[in-house]
Amino acid sequence: MAFKVTPYEVSGNVDYQKLIKEFGLKPLDSKTIEKLTKFTKETHFMLRRKIFIAHRDFNWILEEYKKGNKFFLYTGRGPSGNTHLGHLLPWIFTKWLYDKFKVDFWFQITDDEKFLFNPKLSLEDTNHFAHENALDIIALGFKPDRTKIVIDTECADIMYPLAIQVAKKVTFSVVKSVFGLQNDSNIGSIFYTSMQAVPAFMPSVLKGKVMPCLIPHGIDQDPHFRVTRDILPKLGYPKPASIQNVFFPSLTKSNKMSASMPETAVFTTDDPKTVKKKIGSALTGGRETLAEQKEKGGQPDICSVFKYYFFLFEMDDKKLEEQRQLCKKGKLMCGDCKAELINRINTFLESHQKKREEARKVLDEYLFKR
Ligand code: TRP
Repeated sequence: MAFKVTPYEVSGNVDYQKLIKEFGLKPLDSKTIEKLTKFTKETHFMLRRKIFIAHRDFNWILEEYKKGNKFFLYTGRGPSGNTHLGHLLPWIFTKWLYDKFKVDFWFQITDDEKFLFNPKLSLEDTNHFAHENALDIIALGFKPDRTKIVIDTECADIMYPLAIQVAKKVTFSVVKSVFGLQNDSNIGSIFYTSMQAVPAFMPSVLKGKVMPCLIPHGIDQDPHFRVTRDILPKLGYPKPASIQNVFFPSLTKSNKMSASMPETAVFTTDDPKTVKKKIGSALTGGRETLAEQKEKGGQPDICSVFKYYFFLFEMDDKKLEEQRQLCKKGKLMCGDCKAELINRINTFLESHQKKREEARKVLDEYLFKR
């Protein structure tokens, strides 16, 4: 079946192996993971489970680090709505790298992008969500002394001179072919990728010292960084390295969670009742009747509830495998499995939401300003 992945459209059943080839990424193999583990002393479950599946120049980042040349981390968020659990994947992984390597972290929030690309959102809307989404990143535990949050429209004075350096070297025909933009696309959207390139070298500019950059991100964002990697050496900066995660599954049939379809995802702002309702009606690999399920067993590999455990809510590999087997043997029923997941999600959200509210008071310490 045909599929399509760009930063602005994900459709069809994504074949990740094919996509890796198409994009020109390197599969994240065990050799690279071993190299990383030499520094981190443990392997993150998202690596073990191939939730992070590909990279560009990740080995180079490790080699530079070993030489004493510290990288900085960069990732971001397009504030089109509240944050959902899928957004947390690369952020949680980034937090792990941030703790292990003790490096700086830059987080870009692109209120300009979501305004330009979404006909329904005003700049007021996207700027509002920029501030809301910032709370989620702070709630994950990043510290203000090593973290800078860059909201595009609020840092334009610093970013614009850098963005135009990039823009001058990117042609309209490249933007058309990489992002699927057209002659009738608005000219802000055509310019936008140069804004997403900026945090990959802005820290170097500010420090007056060239530093390696590592970008953990959802695989759909790679087209932006292909362009960035093309241009930065022409400006005297190294190509940023990157590491890509697969999409977090939707609760319904489509294969990516979406902020524009609230029923497909759990948001960090959802209350316990909403979570119960969403998980309660999620697509499972269960059978028509209890009797049939006891006889034939469930199908965890096509079950969105099981995937929630896999992606975030059961970090113990052994326990996860036991759960898979119990389900397959017809010994674990969907109702029980859902009830337990609802519990785990609500426990997580209760604590996350508390930290989110506390973050409001300190947000200013994180926001980058000249
Ligand atoms: N374009 C991204 C989005 O729509 C936001 C973003 C900006 C980003 N810079 C990034 C994502 C760096 C990952 C890494 O969500």
